[in-house]
Amino acid sequence: MRSLFRTKPLDTLLGETEHPEQRLKRTLGPVHLTLLGVGAIIGAGIFSTVGTAAAGGAGHSGAGPALVLSFVLVAVACGFAALCYSEFAAMVPVSGSAYTYSYATLGELVAWIIGWDLILEYAVGNVAVAISWSDYFQSLLKGFDMPWPLWLGTDLRSAIQAAHKVAEAKSQGVDLGTLGDAVWRGHEALAQAPRILGVPIVFNLPAVLIVALITWVLVRGIRESAGFNSAMVLLKLGIIVVFIVVGAFYVKPANWTPFAPNGFAGISNAAASIFFAYIGFDAVSTAAEETRNPQRNMPIGIIASLIICTVIYIAVALVLTGMVNWKQFSEVADPLARAFSLRGMNWTAGLISFGAVFATTSVLVVFQIGQPRIFFSMARDGLLPSWAARVHPKYRTPHITTILTGVFVAGFAAVTNIDEVVELCNIGTLFAFVLVAAGVIILRRTDPHRPRPFRTPLVPWVPLLAIFTCAYLKVEQPQKTWKRFVYWLAGGLVLYFLYGFRRSRLNQPGDATRTRSAD
Ligand code: ALA
Repeated sequence: MRSLFRTKPLDTLLGETEHPEQRLKRTLGPVHLTLLGVGAIIGAGIFSTVGTAAAGGAGHSGAGPALVLSFVLVAVACGFAALCYSEFAAMVPVSGSAYTYSYATLGELVAWIIGWDLILEYAVGNVAVAISWSDYFQSLLKGFDMPWPLWLGTDLRSAIQAAHKVAEAKSQGVDLGTLGDAVWRGHEALAQAPRILGVPIVFNLPAVLIVALITWVLVRGIRESAGFNSAMVLLKLGIIVVFIVVGAFYVKPANWTPFAPNGFAGISNAAASIFFAYIGFDAVSTAAEETRNPQRNMPIGIIASLIICTVIYIAVALVLTGMVNWKQFSEVADPLARAFSLRGMNWTAGLISFGAVFATTSVLVVFQIGQPRIFFSMARDGLLPSWAARVHPKYRTPHITTILTGVFVAGFAAVTNIDEVVELCNIGTLFAFVLVAAGVIILRRTDPHRPRPFRTPLVPWVPLLAIFTCAYLKVEQPQKTWKRFVYWLAGGLVLYFLYGFRRSRLNQPGDATRTRSAD
């Protein structure tokens, strides 16, 4: 039992980062970090899932114009979590993020659970981002009058469900005009699909191609340079500003009434899904080892990126629901562009689609870099096989974990529905936030004298509020998502007991990192 809670002391963790062969170059300052955060945050959430959040769908009732309150609600929860992340990121400036913090505080079993859970945030999250990329890519091509084949632009299950919805609407005499665009596209995809032995061939090829391209680039080690990232982020901020400023001229206040058509239930359902739009401020912490003066700059990067995105999101929500009636976003994959095309501004809609393709690409890159690093840390600690921590002889990149991540993300992006993967990513990330907040409270008790360059205010209250608000958003996730989440964690636990428990470096006699058990 005690082995399950063995911890890796903070001093060992910090010492490892000073190892000359593993030391990374410290070049990032507060502005770079903030841009890195904004780069990871603004993507599929605000460009895609916001439509379902406003209009409802996928088991949620929509918030309507009160979407803006959903954004505020989630910003509060993320704000509490960001304060907790900041304490850890400043105190343990090591790149493994929540996985590493929990290894130091809550013990190996919890660390494993978090590491396994972070796959839901990084890899599964990227499945959703790749699907969103594909949606905007297809709408961009359509704008150029070069429509992409529908059967190569969605997943089979969504297509079958869409065909059912159309058939049902026809049999019940429902007005077919009320069916959303995505339903018609799915229905058409199935009708047009070639068949092999009677099985329709429908999959999301653009999503596979973009992930394959990024994986190839990352294996070759053309790592996202801070300058390149900053340029991408400025571009996407520019597009969002265009959306807000131009869209503001087309707002009709009448569209804001009734303000909350589905009451608080609609607001909190939407909050549970647009949580996805905020994910990424925590990814700033993975750059801790490349940061100058991380004790000061980590909290700045995490908190500033969250504040900037919150302000942007509130403005986007107001403009979006003011431009057209919220019901028109039902089953729409590219709501921000659609708001303009519904107002007859196809050129601006095209510009937004163009920006969205870049925005989602930069999120894909950040998370495709982050996931292999977490696998890498877990392999280095012995919880995953050591071959996973091998570095490419020529390119010096963690190529094996990068390729595995690429295959996983591309494979699932080809065959899954965006709403389902968003929910799974949300539940996993919320769980990580809860554990990090708990870690802050625990470490204040077990190691009260350790220097804390950034202190979460009002401990234990702020971490408790983080736990409470994130748990609330978790409870709001649909039941089937909970089931998938529990199966995922159970599968992870089986793996741990079959492998990591025995192979952990903390379990190897004589290993330099062998350390204390929690006693
Ligand atoms: N927040 C990121 C996005 O919306 C994951 O794409």
